[in-house]
Amino acid sequence: MGEEEMEEVLKTLPVEKLPEGIDICFYEGHWYRSVFIHGIIKFQQHFKAQDTDLILATFPKSGTTWLKALAFTIANRNNYPVSESPLLITNPHSLINFLEFDFYGKNSILKLEDLPSPRVLATHMPHSALPTSIKNSNCRVVYLCRNPLDVFISFRHFAAKLSNKPFDPSLIKESFDMFCRGVSTYGPFWDHALEYWTASQERPNKVLFLKYEDMKEDPISHFKVLAKFMGLPFSVEEESQGVIEEALKLCSFNNLKDSEVNKYEKNRRGHPYNMFFRKGEVGDWANYLTPSMLERMNKLMEEKFAGSGLNFKFS
Ligand code: A3P
Repeated sequence: MGEEEMEEVLKTLPVEKLPEGIDICFYEGHWYRSVFIHGIIKFQQHFKAQDTDLILATFPKSGTTWLKALAFTIANRNNYPVSESPLLITNPHSLINFLEFDFYGKNSILKLEDLPSPRVLATHMPHSALPTSIKNSNCRVVYLCRNPLDVFISFRHFAAKLSNKPFDPSLIKESFDMFCRGVSTYGPFWDHALEYWTASQERPNKVLFLKYEDMKEDPISHFKVLAKFMGLPFSVEEESQGVIEEALKLCSFNNLKDSEVNKYEKNRRGHPYNMFFRKGEVGDWANYLTPSMLERMNKLMEEKFAGSGLNFKFS
């Protein structure tokens, strides 16, 4: 699709505005932020996956920043000791970049050709909307999933910051209704989660499905699973030297949140890095949502995930 044709297509897309004022549009079954739609289509059309690529995929606010830090640390542990890790002075989003914004987005300055292989790349795209070369090549995909209620609340705080407004709890009712109707960035949420879940069941060597809640509960086991999936398992020697614990501490919420770069610096789009670190907890939704909202989500998840084996416990 050329630029002109793309502009014509974009004019025909259904659009909505999130209560925080963010424009989204509906393209081929999913909702995307309108400002990123060009990059999304270009990524779909032009990206050529390499067999050695690792793609980190997430629904926004599922712990992408954490996953990037963990995968970066695994991939680069022989290049830098923890005490000299680039993560001490660089935000994870600047070490592992998003395909649809950072490489293919409008005004992007990063070039994929400049990256050495093996590449670690990130995306929020749903599985069904990934470029075919990702599905057809031997590259691997790690999907980090998080329960939809925490995702929803985390996004409300993030959206307020994106819009330069204070968080407004009075918007929750309307935004929750939209979320439940599937109208959210990269939504519907359940399609996103279920597509990667199914792909991970069908091709476990290609797609690894992780849950934020499981990682919080048992970070060591899941970190080892991630390293193994990346083809870089920790050796017995590394384990006995405490490399895993040290790496997890480096990537921990408190450690990253309190670093100078993440406290005070901004990304290329002018957003402060501190907006990626809020509470880092499981279950914060309970401070915002009513019992009837919980019931609505429970019913929705039961219906959408029926028979799939995928579920979320909202305890
Ligand atoms: P909360 O808003 O619930 O605190 P993403 O990285 O996909 O944008 O997701 C952001 C969410 O992950 C935020 O959740 C943020 O606080 C949390 N987060 C960021 N870094 C983290 C880390 N190192 N460990 C655990 N959670 C982290």
